[in-house]
Parts: sequence; C-alpha cells; structure tokens
Amino acid sequence: MTRPLITAKDVAAADRVVVPPGAILTPLARDLLRKRGITPELGGGAGSGVERLVIANWKSHKTIGEALAFAAAFRGAQPRAGATPVICPPHTALAALHQALDGAAEVGAQDISAHPEGAHTGEVAARHLVDAGCSFALVGHSERRHAGEDDALCRRKLRAALSGGLRPVLCVGETAEERRGGRTQRVLTDQLRAALEGLEPAQVERLVVAYEPRWAIGAGVTPGPAEIAEVLAHVRGVLERTCAPAWARRVPVLYGGSVSERNAAELLGVPGCAGALVGGASLAPERFLAILQAV
Ligand code: PGA
Repeated sequence: MTRPLITAKDVAAADRVVVPPGAILTPLARDLLRKRGITPELGGGAGSGVERLVIANWKSHKTIGEALAFAAAFRGAQPRAGATPVICPPHTALAALHQALDGAAEVGAQDISAHPEGAHTGEVAARHLVDAGCSFALVGHSERRHAGEDDALCRRKLRAALSGGLRPVLCVGETAEERRGGRTQRVLTDQLRAALEGLEPAQVERLVVAYEPRWAIGAGVTPGPAEIAEVLAHVRGVLERTCAPAWARRVPVLYGGSVSERNAAELLGVPGCAGALVGGASLAPERFLAILQAV
C-alpha cells in the first residue's frame, strides 16, 4: 500500500509534471525539475487530493503473538482499500506485525527518538523503526505530552521522522480546561506552528496531522460533528499559513478520540476529515475493520 512514486526517469523528458493525489516525487525527480525550471503541479481539484488514512494506536497492548493473531484475522477479511490502514503496535511487535501483514496495512511507531542514533538508552530511532518495517511514526500523542513532551521536543521528533524516511503523524489537541476557556484554536495554532514552521514542501507532502481533543481520548465522548468540522477547518487554515500552501492543502487531517465502529461513519463524514486515529476500538480486528469500512 505504498504511495506511487514519480521518479527522475518519469520526469526526464516532460515539459509539465502533474502529481496525482497520493503520489510522491522522489528527491531526484524533484531536483531534476528544479534544475529544469519546472514547477510540479498538483492533480485533482481543491480538497479532492487528500489521502484517507485510518490509524490504529494499540498503546501498551498486545504481545507479539496477539499482534500476529490480529494480522491473520485482518488479512483474512480482505479489507477494501478506501483508506490506507496503518497499525501502530508496541515497538516489540513492529517487525513481526509488518511481516505478517505482508502489505495489507502499513505499520507505524507510537513514538520516535529525537536523535538519529547514539548514547540514548531506551530510545528507538528512525533508522531502527524503518529497519522494523515502519513507514509512519506518531509524534506528540497526548499521552506522550502528558508524560512531559513539550512542543520543542515534538518539533525535533517530527524532523527526526522526516529525515529518517518516516511519515510523521503530528497529534495536536486541547485539554478540557482549555476548551472550557475558549482557547482551543489558540492552543492548536501554537502546537502546529511550533512543530511545523520552516518545513520544506517535500517534507510537507509526507506529513499527517491528527486532531485529538485530549478530553475525548479514551473517554467515550466526542465533540459534535459541527465542532469537529470547525476545528478541522481551523487546523487546515493554520497549515496553509504555516507551510507551503499548495502542499499543505493535501495534508491529511484526521480526527481521533473515542472513535468506534458506532460513530465512525458520522465522524469520518465530517467535512475536512481525512480519516481517524483509533485507540481502544482498534484492538479487535472486527471493530477496526468496521471503522475502515466506514470511510
Ligand atoms: P481512543 O484513543 O480511541 O481510545 O480514544 C485515541 C488515541 O489515543 O489516539
């Protein structure tokens, strides 16, 4: 389920290059176009090119054996590909799960070291995650922020993911108190800017953002569809003002926080919602599959 690549060979003789939704230009192709003075164009109309993703965050659940049982059930169900499924197991199960899924879903890490490698006991760096089969890494999940990660560390982790060849899923969200105080948009603006300012277009095209209101995670409650739509529009606006706008328009912005098979169709149907980040309801294959089918 990797995204189609447009290589230097594909663009060598072209006078004009249109990048279809979900496709990626390789760095060599990008360099070649830059040298030839050609600006790649984005295919698809406004809003039509956004990739859809449903990401499972297993948190501190499942042994290797349990992950393999999930993979067998998931593959057996042959899910249709309306959205890219991504599964983020505990680090210990990454390699085995990646192998067992055999391309039926992408595999992601729940966290990533800010360092490329070195004397950092307990940290797992991008190159180790790639080695285990990862293509995505969550950055700044609320449970990591709660454990002490600040915006500056999230920014470094996001860059470590990008330079290590992973697609970062930047998680942003407000607390219940911030929401009560009417500060949701301010908080999200600050989190997004702190992490994203200064990214190159080639980095923006690999980014994913997840709006996860902290008060909704694991709580069995979600904001209403109108509130989610308003916040997602705000996130998209900040993205476009902070990053290269043409590419920022294509960044998938997901919703996360108490997504289940019961509310998935409604939440995934919210305007501007490109998919979901799912915790508890992703642990059972039939529940995760039902959410995936709702896209
Ligand atoms: P939840 O978790 O679906 O269990 O609320 C979501 C998350 O933490 O990403």
